[in-house]
Amino acid sequence: MATVLKEPSRTFNEYLLIPGYSSAEARPENVSLKTPVVKFRKGEEPALSMNIPLTSAVMQAVSDDGMAVALAKEGGISFIFGSQSIESQAAMVRKAKRAKAGFVPSDSNLTPDSTLGDVLDLKERKGHSTIAITEDGTADGKLLGIVTSRDYRLSRMSMDTKVSEFMTPFEKLIFGKDGITLSEANDIIWDNKLNQLPIVDDNQRLTAFVFRKDYDSHKEHPLELLDADKRYVVGAGINTRDFKERVPALVDAGVDIMTIDSSEGYSEWQAITLKWIRDTYGDTVKVGAGNVVDADGFNFLADCGADFVKIGIGGGSICITREQKGIGRGQASAVLEVAQARDEYYKKTGVYIPICSDGGIVYDYHIALALAMGADFIMLGRYFARFEESPSAKLMVNGNYVKEYWGEGSARARNWQRYDLGGDAKLKFEEGVDSYVPYAGPLHDNVALTLNKVKSTMCNCGVLSIPEFHKNAKLTLVSAVSIVEGGAHDVILKEVSGRTSNSR
Ligand code: IMP
Repeated sequence: MATVLKEPSRTFNEYLLIPGYSSAEARPENVSLKTPVVKFRKGEEPALSMNIPLTSAVMQAVSDDGMAVALAKEGGISFIFGSQSIESQAAMVRKAKRAKAGFVPSDSNLTPDSTLGDVLDLKERKGHSTIAITEDGTADGKLLGIVTSRDYRLSRMSMDTKVSEFMTPFEKLIFGKDGITLSEANDIIWDNKLNQLPIVDDNQRLTAFVFRKDYDSHKEHPLELLDADKRYVVGAGINTRDFKERVPALVDAGVDIMTIDSSEGYSEWQAITLKWIRDTYGDTVKVGAGNVVDADGFNFLADCGADFVKIGIGGGSICITREQKGIGRGQASAVLEVAQARDEYYKKTGVYIPICSDGGIVYDYHIALALAMGADFIMLGRYFARFEESPSAKLMVNGNYVKEYWGEGSARARNWQRYDLGGDAKLKFEEGVDSYVPYAGPLHDNVALTLNKVKSTMCNCGVLSIPEFHKNAKLTLVSAVSIVEGGAHDVILKEVSGRTSNSR
């Protein structure tokens, strides 16, 4: 006889938080959102923590090297998508690890044979006015000069003038030697009144630029997440098929943390993958596993050695798994049960295994709810896909800017490994859709606003940290009627747009 759970499968929208006593100390600036990412023993510090409880989803439309750097600057971690060749994924990890804070790889490059027309065209496309002139036109070629808007006068020069005729040649450039620190680079910039400083190695090859304007932006990111060598912390997704080749390549590229990316993680495949990683690397390589939605799934992956466990089946915004296969669980019920299992496991073994609520965040307050319900951190796809830094195309549709966002189980991503149980390729079916999401601008501003809301909620609940939130949060189920009461009602709204624009 089948088991039928007594409680229905509930989602975030069905809960609210009841405020707790807030002391005068309970102000957003006093709240710490620091949270563990990997398991640790009672009394010890986790080997990896984040400064904010946000990770970006293992998806083509969300997490590449650009997103990895942008999110690490805010204090979170991106998991670079695994539905690409091992070489290109490792190259993305390497690129993000090389992007030293304040040292920017040159994204606008030409050769001395290019023309003024090429300069203007590149400036228009990239939006940057500093162009590196290298021998082969690459970002790390031999630096022969630079062109900025001070080097040409459009009214006096023809479009086919060669760059070599008007660039500032290397001999006249002030440059920094590869290996200098950011503060040394900034001193050179200030002493010489420069806008940018090219950094070159012993062979005169360009390695990066340091820009004057980034001096301040560096100070804007006090929570940035760096490794022991002051490089950004970077994550990556792996699968249970090619892990024997993919994991070594990612480790070699410098990845800090990986996660097995699967729509359903309570499986022998995950056990085999985790065992191989532990046998090969011991505890030095960190890897999460999932996804699961109940205590059985959590305990299984915990015993297999997962560093963290990811929760969520069928709740993603682009996900049609529940419709296609009839499996899954409301995200709130899943998080609540797994959090209880995590706490019991901690009591029993003295090992705390962080849990991640993955998918289904629609409003910012859902993040607060997931944390209150016991999640240590959250993974989001749709939320990050909307930002400037996501890898997908920005388009104008019906007069509004949108970004493309597609599921890993859609035909577009063709990430069948995430869903594969073997069998005939002809019989594969989609578990995700291809969609648009409203463009929302830069990640930095959005994340700041979202987290300010989360901190305000925590203050109302009288807590100043995530562990306190886990302990003290008081939640209530809402009735269908009280949901109506929660929105604006019985008034004539002057403006419909705007109110929900932050996370809708
Ligand atoms: P979102 O934040 O609601 O957009 O959900 C993102 C999450 O959905 C990801 O982290 C994955 O766990 C999951 N996901 C990604 N692609 C698919 C898909 O094609 N089908 C089902 N779930 C998906």
